[in-house]
Amino acid sequence: MSYFSKIIGVGSFVPKNVYTNFDLEKMMDTTDEWIQQRTGIVERRWVDDHTSTSDLAYEASLKAIENSGIKKEDIDMIIFATLSPDHDFPGTGCFLQAKLNLPGITALDIRQQCSGFLYGLSIADKFIRSGSHKNVLLVGAEVHSKGLDKTPNGRNVSVLFGDGAGAVVVSRAEVNDPKKDSHIMTTQLFADGSLAKELWLPAPGFAFPKERINEAMIKEGLHYPQMNGKAVFVHATKRMTECLQTACKEASVELNDVDLFLFHQANLRINSKVAEDLGIPENKVFNTIQRYGNTTAATIPLGMDDAVKAGVLKKGMLVASAAFGSGFTWASAVWRF
Ligand code: UT7
Repeated sequence: MSYFSKIIGVGSFVPKNVYTNFDLEKMMDTTDEWIQQRTGIVERRWVDDHTSTSDLAYEASLKAIENSGIKKEDIDMIIFATLSPDHDFPGTGCFLQAKLNLPGITALDIRQQCSGFLYGLSIADKFIRSGSHKNVLLVGAEVHSKGLDKTPNGRNVSVLFGDGAGAVVVSRAEVNDPKKDSHIMTTQLFADGSLAKELWLPAPGFAFPKERINEAMIKEGLHYPQMNGKAVFVHATKRMTECLQTACKEASVELNDVDLFLFHQANLRINSKVAEDLGIPENKVFNTIQRYGNTTAATIPLGMDDAVKAGVLKKGMLVASAAFGSGFTWASAVWRF
């Protein structure tokens, strides 16, 4: 017996506090003009002091489950993608599982940063295809704001990131006509760890001698993300372009057949360059970075939910997605929604 999987429900949640570029001008030596020109970002959401990543994930999950039409109790696996876990351990999937009151089911965290959602989609698809699980709750959620250097020293990174969560329910699908019926057609996953330190958070780290964090490391700012923006930009455009083509080939579809492109949201210029290089019309790319900034593992499901709400993404459409981020990791997927 062979199985397929499909996305049956989507949900998202962002904190209510909006921080515009003008708000950031007051904290960092930056300008609205610089941020908009270089990234496309206009505003982002940042949580209050009492909200964690699993809190955002919980709200997004409830909406995804409600939209899926299945009962919460029918979920048999949680996959949680985040780089901003509630705590180092256990995985945030366990905290979310407790909040959802679903004791006993499989809970798995993955650490693939901006590619986390697509890595998670691949894992969900493969568990469902194997027959071992039927209804997987896949969540991408981040609270970046508590981990950013909001002084002028951190401006090259801190203006980029926002908080938010997106979730999908991936379920066993009946596929009679693979060309028409909703299902995940392919997922493609890649990484190049030789470039890990081009975008990373060094501390706390068990690789340090004696202590995973100390005052000297904090003084040096090693507890804040470090990024070589130019290297990330160059690799992102190249790899996203490549892996989109690979996914389309594997799914036996032409790029022209794709109805909607849901790209990771790191920089509007990255997405425009990928679209331009592949001859994709801009109106087929659904971007949300203007309003949320880069929410890392959450960008794709958050965008998917907004696209559904805006009436841009409809059942039966052919969707292609690609992401690139820290690791470096990159990934792509094609599915019939
Ligand atoms: O999901 C993956 C996460 N990250 C990414 O995808 C990031 C990819 N990279 C990028 O998006 C771009 O490299 C950035 C938007 C981060 C930076 O754009 P850039 O065109 O590569 O700028 P740059 O780093 O070369 O900096 C240009 C200038 C520098 O000043 P000087 O040396 O020319 O005087 C920076 O100091 O802009 C300055 N700068 C800023 N100015 C105002 C850097 N950050 C800021 C800032 N506000 N926030």
